[in-house]
Amino acid sequence: MITSSARGSSASESGATGSGTVWSDDEGARRARAVFDEAFDARPQEVWAAPGRVNLIGEHTDYNGGLALPIALPHRTFAAVSPRDDRAVRVVSRLDHDHRWEGVLDDIRPGGVEGWVAYSAGPAWALATDGLEVPGFDLALASAVPTGAGVSSSAAVECAVALALASLAGHPIGVEDDAGRARLAAACVQAENDVAGAPTGGMDQATSLRARPGHALLLDCHDDSVTHVPVDLEAAGLVLLVLDTRVHHSLADGQYGRRRATCEAAAQALGVGTLGDLVREEDADHPGADVGTVLDRLDDEEQRRRTRHVLTEIRRVRELVAAADAKDWTAVGVAMNASHDSLRDDYEVSCAELDSAVEAARSAGSLGARMTGGGFGGSAIALVPQGREARVAEAVTSAARSRGFPLPAVHLAVPAGAGERVA
Ligand code: GLA
Repeated sequence: MITSSARGSSASESGATGSGTVWSDDEGARRARAVFDEAFDARPQEVWAAPGRVNLIGEHTDYNGGLALPIALPHRTFAAVSPRDDRAVRVVSRLDHDHRWEGVLDDIRPGGVEGWVAYSAGPAWALATDGLEVPGFDLALASAVPTGAGVSSSAAVECAVALALASLAGHPIGVEDDAGRARLAAACVQAENDVAGAPTGGMDQATSLRARPGHALLLDCHDDSVTHVPVDLEAAGLVLLVLDTRVHHSLADGQYGRRRATCEAAAQALGVGTLGDLVREEDADHPGADVGTVLDRLDDEEQRRRTRHVLTEIRRVRELVAAADAKDWTAVGVAMNASHDSLRDDYEVSCAELDSAVEAARSAGSLGARMTGGGFGGSAIALVPQGREARVAEAVTSAARSRGFPLPAVHLAVPAGAGERVA
């Protein structure tokens, strides 16, 4: 079954949270308020929402000072909050499980909280570190962003909470304030890195806070600048499918951090700040570094493969943007396919379930298919001609079945907007 993710599609009452169904803002606010009311016997002062994302291309480039091209999903996390007049903090969440935590603001710091609390409350510490006077608060979370699917459910939580707490601290940050959003995204990354202990880059938070409906976000992680790239798949007769392998991964489990450390070591060996420096601001007159020549300067085979992925991936982002601009969707698909192959072979972050989904989607007529996000499970995306969705979904499902993998969940994705106040 393909779950529609068009905004305003009817919400499933029976579905568990995070099942892939999109909630309208009213529905999400209603659910978050209900959790708040049940836990605290009160009405929240405000409700803020922030979305998950899929990345079209530019994977494992963010922490290398490179380019990425994500879209925000219409699936959102909803944070209902009220300030308190003491320093107490109470957090309840209905995410993948029901959780409750109570403490004080001073508990929320690196080493002070862990697990889901670090993601949910961590932004309070990062905002305070950034100079905001965050009061004690009551917070209730409800989410339509599938967890463990590689679509940034954790960033959606952080960003919804950060938006809500900034507002409680007297600094509501609307979508039009892009500088404010960039600063908030940096605080969320700091919370994820330092409080939750996951050494991730900034793509997910930038998307959740800075994306625009109908556009992909071309993010330059060198200086955090963004360009909004129109993506009108409908006019092109195409759809974007998210193929959730339902194999879960943890970014804090060491694999991600190892990739990052290898890239940093390679950059140091090459005498640059980040690998992205080698291919920055290229054009016909300034062709940038020759990849073969760069690789010849590295002694370590693993560094060579990781570096080759990063440099070629940054170039593929530019190629895909140019192809989309020229409405050359075949070329868009070629770039997506090459990205997956590079992530599988050079970066080694794919897995059998992702490869199976990608290969089946390609064989069933996708223009391109690739894993998206950190890897080691999670989701792939496929660019598919309209009318062929069911065939692709069936092919992906039957490939998984024949290999004994969990049956994937397939969603339709449309580029949605950044987080905002919804009640
Ligand atoms: C995860 C991280 C991002 C990014 C991707 C890979 O989603 O949170 O910062 O590094 O992996 O592109």
